[in-house]
Amino acid sequence: MTTREPQTEMKRVPDEDVLVEIENLKKYFVSESGYIDRFKFELDGGLPIEYDINYVKAVDDVSLKIKKGETLGLVGESGCGKSTLARTVLRLLEPTEGSVYFDGEDLADLSGENLRRRRKDIQMIFQDPQSSLDPRWKVGKIVEEPMEAHGMLDDEGRERRAKELLDQVGLDPQHYNRYPHEFSGGQRQRINIARALSTNPDFIVCDEPVSALDVSIQAQVLNTLKELQEELDLTFLFIAHDLSVIRYISDRIAVMYLGEIVEFGDEKEIFNNPQHPYTQSLLDSVPVPDPDQEGRKKILEGDVPSPINPPSGCRFRTRCPDVIPPEEFAFDDEEWAAIRRFTRAVTRREFDRSELAEMKERYFGGLSFRGDTDDVLEESLGYIEDEEWEQAEQLLTETFLEKSICAKEKPEYDVTPEFGSSRHYAACHLHRD
Ligand SMILES: Nc1ncnc2c1ncn2[C@@H]1O[C@H](COP(=O)(O)OP(=O)(O)O)[C@@H](O)[C@H]1O
Ligand code: SF4
Ligand SMILES: [Mg+2]
Repeated sequence: MTTREPQTEMKRVPDEDVLVEIENLKKYFVSESGYIDRFKFELDGGLPIEYDINYVKAVDDVSLKIKKGETLGLVGESGCGKSTLARTVLRLLEPTEGSVYFDGEDLADLSGENLRRRRKDIQMIFQDPQSSLDPRWKVGKIVEEPMEAHGMLDDEGRERRAKELLDQVGLDPQHYNRYPHEFSGGQRQRINIARALSTNPDFIVCDEPVSALDVSIQAQVLNTLKELQEELDLTFLFIAHDLSVIRYISDRIAVMYLGEIVEFGDEKEIFNNPQHPYTQSLLDSVPVPDPDQEGRKKILEGDVPSPINPPSGCRFRTRCPDVIPPEEFAFDDEEWAAIRRFTRAVTRREFDRSELAEMKERYFGGLSFRGDTDDVLEESLGYIEDEEWEQAEQLLTETFLEKSICAKEKPEYDVTPEFGSSRHYAACHLHRD
């Protein structure tokens, strides 16, 4: 694993529109078991000792620019690395690699008083309003605490400001002396918002702030956040797994999958012109309200792979319905689909060796492959006949799936936007020339 390069420049020339710049950010966690990265330590005169270290690649080379005054929505399935990204940006977690610039200043270069002062400008709102509010503290104290920590105002001034803030977030300032349990879920999240605002920040990271709330309450809290943003000139990084929430709040959207950003663009562009099969699947899997239609159009296939050993090339390739066939075989769509379906069935041991003839007919009936492809398929069937499933799986995967450009190269493409002129990025080889 690499360590941080020492930074030579403390302050870079800031892009005027950009408040936060995330550059090649990585956050790996050490996982306890496994065999992926093997380190060998030789002790003086002793025998070599081997340690097995695995890394959970929770955030893997993410770059994003967040513009002043915008809401950048970050969306993706649970476990894809959204919270880790947020916490690493805020330096609640130490990055494994990469930088975060706030107003042109590298946060990694700050320490002591300078870092403390910067922290005032950057706040966070978490998902669970219950656990982030100390039940023994009155609301007034909860809202005032960050101001006190940063030495802002005197006792009286802080009380006055806390009451103003309660009013501003839609709570009754008279409730200053109440305890969190006396409030509803939505109101508790408003207390959190008031607390986050207390230090007068420029940038707020909202990590699933409405996910725990009733749908009817969600819209009200989102509206308050929007109004506050306008009023106070705030910049948001807004995380959610719910697309309707993301659509409502975001100016631009980043779609995350297994530690990486796979698509990025204006809200309109992502919803009306999605260019990554993962984004398309996410949009398609939103339940359709019409009862005559099927509940969901297309459900994502397969399981999310482990971030310890993510797939090579495009990380979405193990679930992607559009994987590109390897050039050397010149398969047509039907042949390629058959090979992928068969490989998946073998990987999942979906049939018994007694059904081999039937399976051959089911997957390949009516298709005639070139000699070399046919040979490989026959060889794999031979393995299955001998109950050597792993060999069959390996042969099929190595011969076909791993020859796809989707497995061989990491995709990175800019596509032409249909809506507006903002950059539209899609990490999918379907966009190669
Ligand atoms: N402290 C940690 N140690 C090891 N793995 C972690 C830790 N925190 C998160 N992870 C792993 O990192 C991945 C991303 O998690 P997270 O950032 O919480 O995703 P999300 O917020 O998108 O649901 C998951 O596989 C999770 O298990
Ligand atoms: S690069 Fe290949 S596997 Fe990845 S999303 Fe595009 S088509 Fe699918
Ligand atoms: Mg999370």
